[in-house]
Amino acid sequence: MDSTHRIAGALQASISRAVGPGCPPQLAAALQYAVFPSGALVRPRLSLAVAYACGDSAPDIADAAAASIELLHCGSLVHDDLPCFDDADTRRGKPSVHRAFGQPLAVLVGDALIVSAFQTLARHVLAAPERVSALIALIGGSVAAPSGIIAGQAWECEPTVPLEAYHAAKTGSLFAAATTAGATAAGYDAAPWRRLGECLGEAYQLADDICDCMADPATRGKPGGRDKYLGRPNAVEELGLPGAMQRLKSLLSEAPESVPQCPRMDELRAHIAIQAQPYLPKEVSRIAA
Ligand code: IPE
Ligand code: IPE
Ligand code: MG
Ligand code: MG
Repeated sequence: MDSTHRIAGALQASISRAVGPGCPPQLAAALQYAVFPSGALVRPRLSLAVAYACGDSAPDIADAAAASIELLHCGSLVHDDLPCFDDADTRRGKPSVHRAFGQPLAVLVGDALIVSAFQTLARHVLAAPERVSALIALIGGSVAAPSGIIAGQAWECEPTVPLEAYHAAKTGSLFAAATTAGATAAGYDAAPWRRLGECLGEAYQLADDICDCMADPATRGKPGGRDKYLGRPNAVEELGLPGAMQRLKSLLSEAPESVPQCPRMDELRAHIAIQAQPYLPKEVSRIAA
């Protein structure tokens, strides 16, 4: 089965439990709306690609880890779009969750998706206690303070923001969770897989910053020029377009080299080396051309 189907099935199972009997109808609708139709599924596809490269010895656990990462990502987007963060009216080509359902439900949907992510993992704890407890800790670390998504968003409350630390926390951390979780689910050591996720995560956020300045919002399904308008640190503002593109290219050449030893190392390296295209917003290749 291809990875998109595996991810869709695991996500649907998690959301079906979250919207089960007794769930207030608007909360149920808003939860479905926040997760489906899916976005590009970049992080869970990366996680399953790593699990596959490591032999995928426990596919149910790899699927649960991939789904939990996507649930956390969706929750982070719902919160990120709120008026107290980026005040974005659209996401994935439709009104953002708070525009469609109101702010109280958007706050609760973000919270519910975070909890659902950990319930998704916890369901497998008896089947593979060591792997699943390691996954809960490492995926938890990618959203928690001091250096996960929460810290990334919190940098926006500081008077000065170091761009690399900001990108690493708000985006790199979940990409690093994706690569390390894929390896852990397959019974491999997490640590050697961290750098690949960090590289791809920083590259992804650089590409998003470039697109925020240059791409047509209609093709992205979310507002453009948001970073400048909100005074957010943006790689193009700080490094200039050539500087941001150069940093992006250097990360993309480092990424395949950082794939560690594993049974399908060459296959994964080749997959990532095609300019990491499977893991970058498609608009960026048009801007680079
Ligand atoms: C958006 O992530 C947030 C960033 C880190 C740039 P994605 O571009 O992965 O969003 P979806 O899930 O495909 O909508
Ligand atoms: C993405 O932040 C990382 C999150 C924690 C959501 P951005 O604010 O840069 O992402 P977009 O551009 O709204 O998708
Ligand atoms: Mg933001
Ligand atoms: Mg935003």
